[in-house]
Amino acid sequence: MLRGIKLHFIKMSTTIFYFTGTGNCLYVARNLANELGDARLVNIASVIDKNIDLSGQRIGLVYPVYMFGMPLIVSKFIKKLKAGKDKYFFAVATYGGKACNTLKQNAREFAAFGLKLSAGFLIKMPGNYTPLYGAINEKSQNRLFEESHDKIKNIARIVSSEQTARIETDSFLVAGLFSLIYKLGSGKIPAMDKGFWPDEKCNSCGICVKVCPVNNVELASGKPKWLGRCQQCMACLQWCPQEAIQYGKNTAYRKRYHHPEIKLEDLMHNNI
Ligand SMILES: Cc1cc2nc3c(=O)[nH]c(=O)nc-3n(C[C@H](O)[C@H](O)[C@H](O)COP(=O)(O)O)c2cc1C
Ligand code: SF4
Ligand code: SF4
Repeated sequence: MLRGIKLHFIKMSTTIFYFTGTGNCLYVARNLANELGDARLVNIASVIDKNIDLSGQRIGLVYPVYMFGMPLIVSKFIKKLKAGKDKYFFAVATYGGKACNTLKQNAREFAAFGLKLSAGFLIKMPGNYTPLYGAINEKSQNRLFEESHDKIKNIARIVSSEQTARIETDSFLVAGLFSLIYKLGSGKIPAMDKGFWPDEKCNSCGICVKVCPVNNVELASGKPKWLGRCQQCMACLQWCPQEAIQYGKNTAYRKRYHHPEIKLEDLMHNNI
């Protein structure tokens, strides 16, 4: 008898699926969950090979921009959402400099499975790609964290009322140009771990093995060895307590980065 009638007295709920290497996305996902009040967080890496629970009316993705596009693991994850066609979907992408068409890509990949991305938000955070640059100073980091708070409040307002909002992107010219780099380069990401190597500071603690979200690191004779199915999330390099993991030739003196409020333990558990 009640079929077709929306039961407004039932509390609506949100599931936020996140992927993170250095904690920015977990920080954003947690703050957003706190603002929404009725949200649960699920680490994409912990459920990528499992059945997922799609209960709740609103589903969000929070992930970093990689190479001007989506992390490969997040693209792979999207097909698991197929069963949730009636849900309200939103996405938040954190980025360090240029996010380009990442969220448009997300909308396209959703559409391929008959899903609608109702809103897409960009949040600027400290960059973490040490192969190209070192961490920005703490003052600049804190400014970005502060700025994210207002944006997250606004996202929570839009999401909780299930509004359709703009899919945010960079300017058309820049976005189009850089998206080409993703198209040409993203397929090479799994094998890009060839660039990692441990220097003499490695003390065989094994943290790099535990922190890798896709089990791509093992210890061989006490030293890390990479297995060719990398996401390039930088977790192994950034969380090594000895700063012993290098990439190519220029990372030894670059300042490492991970979000100051996210702890190693947060990344080593499955669902937070
Ligand atoms: C492999 C890789 C590629 C990246 N590419 C971009 C990029 O194209 N544009 C950008 O603005 N930031 C880029 N970044 C920076 C991250 O998107 C940014 O630091 C993000 O907030 C990291 O999130 P996390 O701490 O949750 O891992 C890249 C980072 C990595 C590790
Ligand atoms: S985390 Fe660093 S010190 Fe520990 S095993 Fe890995 S490379 Fe070595
Ligand atoms: S090997 Fe390192 S960079 Fe690659 S997915 Fe694992 S933690 Fe991330």
